[in-house]
Amino acid sequence: MQSFRIKAVLDVMPTLGFLNNTPQFRYIKKNMMVALRQHGDGVRHLEETTVAYIKELLDKMETESSPAFEPKGMIRTTIGKLLMTLIYGFGNEKGLKRFLEIEEQSKRMFSETGPGLLLDVCPPLRYFVPSIRNFYSQFLSLDHAFNELCNEFTDQRKREYDRNNPNIYIDHFFDLIGKPIKVGPGTTDTYAIDEKDVTAMGMNLLIAGQSTSRSMDVLLGLLVNHQDIQERAYREIQQAIGDRTPTCGDRAKLPYLEAIILESLRYGSTVTFGLPHCASEDTELNGYLIPKGTMVFYNAWSISHDPRYCHSLRL
Ligand code: HEM
Repeated sequence: MQSFRIKAVLDVMPTLGFLNNTPQFRYIKKNMMVALRQHGDGVRHLEETTVAYIKELLDKMETESSPAFEPKGMIRTTIGKLLMTLIYGFGNEKGLKRFLEIEEQSKRMFSETGPGLLLDVCPPLRYFVPSIRNFYSQFLSLDHAFNELCNEFTDQRKREYDRNNPNIYIDHFFDLIGKPIKVGPGTTDTYAIDEKDVTAMGMNLLIAGQSTSRSMDVLLGLLVNHQDIQERAYREIQQAIGDRTPTCGDRAKLPYLEAIILESLRYGSTVTFGLPHCASEDTELNGYLIPKGTMVFYNAWSISHDPRYCHSLRL
């Protein structure tokens, strides 16, 4: 079962988080991971790019004239730029600005409990209630705008990439268009991607990766409010690597910092209800029957704040 809004999104593009378990879903899910792993050059360069973008971010923060400022916008911009670079190999300002605007509006439209929820509960209301009709038409136009933007990014990369050296995530898919591939062990099912799927494979990461900004907001908020923890992490960095820029290879030397990151992910549980899942068979849970085909959401916040296991911030 899918909600009306989810179906409307899927009509425009095959969004990984919303697809049913079809050959198309299995193909997309598997090959997104393969593409991320295989294009080592792109990923290796990503560490350098990340360092450069973070330096840029820190410089911006340092030039803030006021001692208190809101860093959320700057963090979203940096992460958006990094994601664009990971996916398409470029992070131009104009495209980035459009992406961040559309993303902000779509987040609002998905979390809308008024007309948004009514549209899911009773879709025909869009024909009779002006506020729901307006909401629906805005929802659709945003969906199309996002698709159009990701199409432009994909087309630009397709024109510019080196066929003999495909080294960025999205390059992986250009040569696979129209070629049927088996979609898993123990099955004869095959699937061949088309242009629309390629656009979706970029867009899926662009949307999913932005979870990082909200997690960063939580992490920074916690560090600002717990100066003792911040001090201890700073001392660990100084002792383990001094003043040079840290790399991924330093991770094992920074166990306290790693614990802070993991604890802030638990504490923040920013993707509170995860993605919609679906019961693949009749299931009984705590005495309740969940019939096959039911859309299921888990509550990550409740799981990670269950007082039986976690009390407060544990650092
Ligand atoms: C701190 C940062 C992040 C957090 C907290 C986070 C969290 C999550 C959560 C909770 C889900 C839903 C899992 C489910 O309900 O099944 C998810 C799915 C996903 N995330 Fe992330 N994520 C983060 C960063 C990223 C990044 C940077 C990328 C890619 C560049 C990414 C790509 C994905 C994809 C592709 C899925 C869908 C996987 C699937 O359907 O199988 N995420 N993420």
